[in-house]
Amino acid sequence: MNNIPTHIGIIMDGNGRWATKRGLPRTLGHKQGIKAIEKTVLACQKLKIKYCTFFAFSTENWKRSKEEVDTIFDLLRQYLKKDNNVFLKHKIKVDTIGLLDKFPKDLQDALANIKEQTASFTDTCIIFALNYGGRDDIVRAVNKLITSGCKQVSEELILHSLDTGDIPEPDLVIRTSGETRISNFMLYQMAYSELYFPKVLWPDFNEKHLIKCLEVYQKRNRRFGGLN
Ligand code: IPE
Ligand code: IPE
Ligand code: MG
Repeated sequence: MNNIPTHIGIIMDGNGRWATKRGLPRTLGHKQGIKAIEKTVLACQKLKIKYCTFFAFSTENWKRSKEEVDTIFDLLRQYLKKDNNVFLKHKIKVDTIGLLDKFPKDLQDALANIKEQTASFTDTCIIFALNYGGRDDIVRAVNKLITSGCKQVSEELILHSLDTGDIPEPDLVIRTSGETRISNFMLYQMAYSELYFPKVLWPDFNEKHLIKCLEVYQKRNRRFGGLN
């Protein structure tokens, strides 16, 4: 495939509705959502997408019940701690954005561990956005600059001080489930991203849907404010 985006962001939405539609508890929707992540990770590698950021837990998601939040953490924990997990098996690099210090200590350790174990892999890089908010990212970036003695910010300085650092801005941001909002995802980094809102609920998302997203992207005419 030609014209593959370098960086895709995915706002994985619809886990709860997927479960409710089947008369199941919302938590089962999240469980199925992890399976969709796994399929998408492998599809990204196959399609030679260099970076893919999964929005897994927002700074606003703490508003949910403790039971639901704990289930999401449990699922992540199990997924990351699995022996010979997909990342190690397929040499996929793992990174995170967002402030991890509010997470349970063992989950923080599991994340640090997988990041360390996969740090030298140069193929696809999967980034999990955890306790991530676009506004929080910008505020922390500016505060980092102030602490380092910076007297005046610039667009470039802010961009490179965000959690995404030197990772290129997303070319394409997908939100599943048909909701058409950004919900505080990578606000600064998304200034010129192409947006696509497929109706599929996240637990049903697979390689076929990803290919459709790429086809939609390939038809877009990115002008960045210029003319062509
Ligand atoms: C997205 O699915 C997963 C997270 C936000 C963690 P939701 O849980 O938001 O699913 P809906 O929107 O209620 O269907
Ligand atoms: C956005 O989904 C956050 C993640 C996918 C992690 P939400 O379901 O939390 O967003 P809203 O509440 O519908 O805007
Ligand atoms: Mg939702």
